[in-house]
Amino acid sequence: MPLAELLDTLSETRKLIDDALERFLPPEDAYPTGIHKAMRYSVFAGGKRLRPALMLWTCELCGGDANLAMPPACALEMIHTYSLIHDDLPAIDDDDLRRGRPTCHKQFDEAAAILAGDALLTHAFIVIVEHVADPSLAKRFIAEIGRASGTGGIIGGQVVDIEASGSNAPARRADAAGTLHYIHTHKTVPPFVAAVRCGAIAADASDADIDALTRYAEDIGLAFQVADDILDVEGTAEELGKTPGKDAAAAKLTYPALFGMAEAKAKARALVESAIHALDRFGQRASLLASLARFIVERKG
Ligand code: IPE
Ligand code: IPE
Ligand code: MG
Ligand code: MG
Ligand code: MG
Repeated sequence: MPLAELLDTLSETRKLIDDALERFLPPEDAYPTGIHKAMRYSVFAGGKRLRPALMLWTCELCGGDANLAMPPACALEMIHTYSLIHDDLPAIDDDDLRRGRPTCHKQFDEAAAILAGDALLTHAFIVIVEHVADPSLAKRFIAEIGRASGTGGIIGGQVVDIEASGSNAPARRADAAGTLHYIHTHKTVPPFVAAVRCGAIAADASDADIDALTRYAEDIGLAFQVADDILDVEGTAEELGKTPGKDAAAAKLTYPALFGMAEAKAKARALVESAIHALDRFGQRASLLASLARFIVERKG
């Protein structure tokens, strides 16, 4: 599928996701209003919605009804948004700009940002429990999304990302490569894997389809973070909606820092080819997902 068609489809899907998020989040005027304002400020700041869109598209690819996947898709986006709010805090990456707006702790204050993140993480699971009618399906969504979010996923990756930053970076290149792989396959890959697995589970897909989609998501998830590292070097604040150059300033362990820009770009391209290959069993029906894989490394923001 051509890039323009992918972007049109993404903007249509984004509207459906945003409508559902609007329904699933506590209203802004519900007491205590400050926390609900902060949650909504960050959720509706204009994210790309790649993870929830991927979940809905995977469900459709596997022959399911995307409406069944909407609650876990919104839950995953709430958790992603919480992870960004906390990632931007002074104690972690100390960023002032996110999704083209002041970060949550800049717009409100640090206490509000910490609590808005906590509330989004908690609310994600309430959305699944309250809006998925089949309890065994709800349990599987919670298991996939919970696993992706905990110490075996986002949190584990974020902890090692912090430990490996600045003067703590592992000295030997072999150690550094292993540590970098751990960081990226934990802080970024698991939500992509949870997205395809929940979408496929909602469609009652076969184990073989779920396995192939998992391999696809592992590749695009890693490609996504390699591209994010590249964009931190080459992107502009206007395109990214966040301040570039922060990884080098904090001496973060990234693909361009460890392997150089040419090798980082080659790695991202190879991952996309591998991801598309994992979709072979679906044939032309997977052209949207194949196009998404290419977009992930070709994007400017
Ligand atoms: C940013 O993710 C965080 C990373 C894992 C690099 P996105 O680039 O998907 O952020 P939004 O949701 O579009 O703002
Ligand atoms: C963060 O990675 C990934 C998360 C789990 C939030 P980065 O720190 O590279 O994300 P950006 O560049 O701030 O979006
Ligand atoms: Mg970070
Ligand atoms: Mg960051
Ligand atoms: Mg980054």
